[in-house]
Amino acid sequence: MIPESFIQELLNRVDVVDVIDKSVPLKKAGANYSACCPFHNEKSPSFTVSPTKQFYHCFGCGAHGTAIGFLMEYQDLSFIEAIHDLAKMVGMIVPQETRNENRPTQKEVVGLQESLQQAAQYYKAELRKSQRAIDYLKARGLSGKVAAKFQIGYAPAGWQNLQSVFPHYENDALTTAGLVVENEQGRRYDRFRDRIMFPIHDAKGQVIGFGGRVINPEDTPKYYNSPETPLFQKGHELYGLFLARRAIRDAGRALVVEGYMDVVALAQYGIEYAVAALGTATTPFHIAKLMRQADEVVFCFDGDNAGRAAAWRAAVNALPALTDGFKLSFLFLPKEHDPDSYVREFGKEKFEAEIKAAMPLSQYILKHLSEDNFLQSQEDRVRFLNDAEPIMQQLNAPRSAMFLRKKVAELAQLSLEEMHSLLKLPNLNKAPIQARPKQTRTTISLYKRFCLMLLMQPGLASIDDLLWIKGDSSEEVLLQQAIETCVLHPHSKPVVIMRELESKVDEKLLREMERELSLLDESLDFALEFVGAKQQLQQAYLQKQEGILLAQISEKPLSTLTENEKALLKNLGNKPNQNRV
Ligand code: UTP
Ligand code: MN
Repeated sequence: MIPESFIQELLNRVDVVDVIDKSVPLKKAGANYSACCPFHNEKSPSFTVSPTKQFYHCFGCGAHGTAIGFLMEYQDLSFIEAIHDLAKMVGMIVPQETRNENRPTQKEVVGLQESLQQAAQYYKAELRKSQRAIDYLKARGLSGKVAAKFQIGYAPAGWQNLQSVFPHYENDALTTAGLVVENEQGRRYDRFRDRIMFPIHDAKGQVIGFGGRVINPEDTPKYYNSPETPLFQKGHELYGLFLARRAIRDAGRALVVEGYMDVVALAQYGIEYAVAALGTATTPFHIAKLMRQADEVVFCFDGDNAGRAAAWRAAVNALPALTDGFKLSFLFLPKEHDPDSYVREFGKEKFEAEIKAAMPLSQYILKHLSEDNFLQSQEDRVRFLNDAEPIMQQLNAPRSAMFLRKKVAELAQLSLEEMHSLLKLPNLNKAPIQARPKQTRTTISLYKRFCLMLLMQPGLASIDDLLWIKGDSSEEVLLQQAIETCVLHPHSKPVVIMRELESKVDEKLLREMERELSLLDESLDFALEFVGAKQQLQQAYLQKQEGILLAQISEKPLSTLTENEKALLKNLGNKPNQNRV
């Protein structure tokens, strides 16, 4: 952990106004600064930054925090990353983090990044030397320009080629980075051999992993990816996102496809806003990430059965995050095509016409639910209602939800009132009307995220966490119970923990967790992510407290505050640390 004293010192040295002004130009307004809030859509500014109190607050959506919180929210950084960025701004050196919880030190992270970067350079250089690899890419229609843009490379055949790049081939960083594999006899060899290499970048453009495709059609697996490493978590990263960022902003839209080659081919044909999940289902993290960058996401899955199944998973995963201002649609290509083959055959214009005509989520949901249900008998309609209920429970965007409910009721041959009396659906009047108060949404999804990780890796639970998760909302109860159960059963499978939780926690929440669990890849290692999520949750707790306090005293002039209130205010936001909660 970074010592708390350092964090305080850091917050004393940075000026929140400078930090925010770099990304969101601020205007002086009295003693404070203001701007249109970057966290929700608005036309007149309700986002204020206080230089004396050193925090920002949005009266529109409730977004609120210190310079650290701002970087985390705005740039999608972890707590630790935000601290490092801030420290860099003011020239402070972050003290060495002690190595608990298997977290790599900053030095080790840099070591991993450098190794991956060097490997990427090497693979790129090797591509130029291998006529066979070049011929393969040419045969697939790739231009040299697009290959260069995506930094495509080639890992030559042979067991220890990387020895020429890394004289210390025995260095642990190489295995941790997933470049070198060690077998049971302790023999080390290159993970990627005789494969076309696709580097995967993080949001800053650093190489964090690779996907490698065979050239020989007989070799298996067709694609081999880097393992989960401290830098690379498949459930969070999207291939091509770094390169596509600008195009996504310009188009206001992101296209999600299945394969590396799809992203590359689309870019070659001028559709530069495509990204791909990395051989896993599209996760809620992926969707939240894309929603921050675009108003519209189009999922385009292959025309085969696997593609169709993936589309439904993606739809279900997206539901809780949806807002009325956000558009999600689905494009189904003909059975024999994937985006790569389609754009090559029909070109950009036709592809973009297909994108424009993609099926909106609501229509897709109804179509899917009634696909093998003719709605003829009473039993058919009961089944339809049963299938539709969990979907409607997940969708909270009031307008979209209302239209969907009307449609479902109509198909079930019930009035809306009759359907409501049968099903437990969230009250839409209470739900936020516009885009979202982001703070609430982040908090809710954080609980779920945190809990999901516990369920997947119960060994991560610590009884100490019960000290700060104190409330009695259904989510807090879920977390408390989950922690207790996980501490008692640190080696159990998620289903076992879930069974223990039955009847102890809110039924609906449990069903939601169950659904999210079913979408996760069991082999994902959450240990690292967990540390970040925990810190974010603690931060959210802190912000909630601050929000309440702020609402009470923000109206009063400083001179009328009691000593106690002044002291509280002075401390506000200075300690994004668990000790305060
Ligand atoms: P596809 O088999 O549809 O790949 O897998 P593709 O991109 O169309 O590849 P080409 O055109 O045959 O070269 C889609 C994605 O699923 C993951 C990869 O991320 C791939 O891009 N995948 C596929 C794997 O991780 N491993 C595999 O063995 C196959
Ligand atoms: Mn393909």
